[in-house]
Amino acid sequence: MSDRPRGTEPDRFETLAVHAGADPDSISGGVSPAIQMSTTFKQDGVGQTRGGFEYGRSGNPTRQALEAAIASLEGAKHGFAYASGLAATQNLLYLLDPGDRLILSDDAYGGTWRLADKVWARYGVETDAVDLRNLDAVAAALAGSKPARMVWVETPTNPLLRVVDISAVARLAASVGALTVVDSTFATPFLQQPLQLGADLVLHSATKYLGGHSDVISGLVATRRDDLAERLRFHQNAAGAVPSPFDCWLVMRGMRTLAVRMERACANASTLAAWLAARREVKTVHYPGLPNHPQRELVARQMRLPGAMLSFELKADEDAARRFVASTRLFTLAESLGAVESLIELPAAMTHASAAGSPLEVPAGLIRLSVGIEAVDDLTADLDAAFAAAHK
Ligand SMILES: Cc1ncc(COP(=O)(O)O)c(C=O)c1O
Repeated sequence: MSDRPRGTEPDRFETLAVHAGADPDSISGGVSPAIQMSTTFKQDGVGQTRGGFEYGRSGNPTRQALEAAIASLEGAKHGFAYASGLAATQNLLYLLDPGDRLILSDDAYGGTWRLADKVWARYGVETDAVDLRNLDAVAAALAGSKPARMVWVETPTNPLLRVVDISAVARLAASVGALTVVDSTFATPFLQQPLQLGADLVLHSATKYLGGHSDVISGLVATRRDDLAERLRFHQNAAGAVPSPFDCWLVMRGMRTLAVRMERACANASTLAAWLAARREVKTVHYPGLPNHPQRELVARQMRLPGAMLSFELKADEDAARRFVASTRLFTLAESLGAVESLIELPAAMTHASAAGSPLEVPAGLIRLSVGIEAVDDLTADLDAAFAAAHK
């Protein structure tokens, strides 16, 4: 990025989002970052690399640009890119040892629970699901018989949109020497800055808002801590779940419009949440921006905007919910979230099916919306038609 004149204010988020990691190409001046596909790099003598690059799994200029970009947007010193959000999760779990205990939000992405409970359990890592909104429960879980080495926060949570007090949880975790990880996928660095609130590590499924166009699977991590960065860099290379240079470029391209996309999507979600809450067919709406959200004050303190994800339950049964999600025109029935187009799904049968029977099980009739950047009146008209179809 071009140097700022001395003494001027740091660039604001919207500016950083456009410029982070996007220096004009040093050879051609291209303003879109070059995609370096080479898997190996010429050495001028044994060990004499150009810029530290030797082999594409260990390091690549396009990936390095993306890693610098996420570090910049999170106010971090180090960034790491992985082949998916779950690959990023896996790499953070490599910070644990057999016999360690992990405390996980009891409302979280089902795949995170599956990885902890079905894979890491086999390697001696025990996972406790805790309602992280309840700080007494967090303190009690941290004080359990085995050492808790990591608290895994997801906020807002998926799919119930609960909000966890990052500063308070990070303080409690630090007091017993445990790491705090925040999966900030729903919030993005535009809405929430976990490292500034005391978290040690922040993670994103960049497949979602950072990529923003439903065309790339990717995961990102950022930290300010050199000691953690050294271990993550080692495991990134040792385990090898790295993204392709083209995928890194796609994520960077998405990140450049993050602020404007989020502003529009959040505005749409706020309108839809209020509209849904006023419908007689709706039992509950879960959205951090509603005046009756139980943690409204915390949302105002911790987040710039309340996000663009919401979920709701109908008064009618699960079959009506199934009819509802199958009858929208603009809201596409699909897993995932965070892109320009609006999506709808039934978490219990789709994204959170792997949490069935676990402490993370979600209500069967819960409908989740990922609100996109379309014209909001078209989105309300689409949902209006779905209400009619579901209640026929
Ligand atoms: C909150 C959250 N974290 C992590 C993941 C996993 O990311 P990926 O699908 O990129 O592996 C997801 C995926 O839906 C998610 O919603």
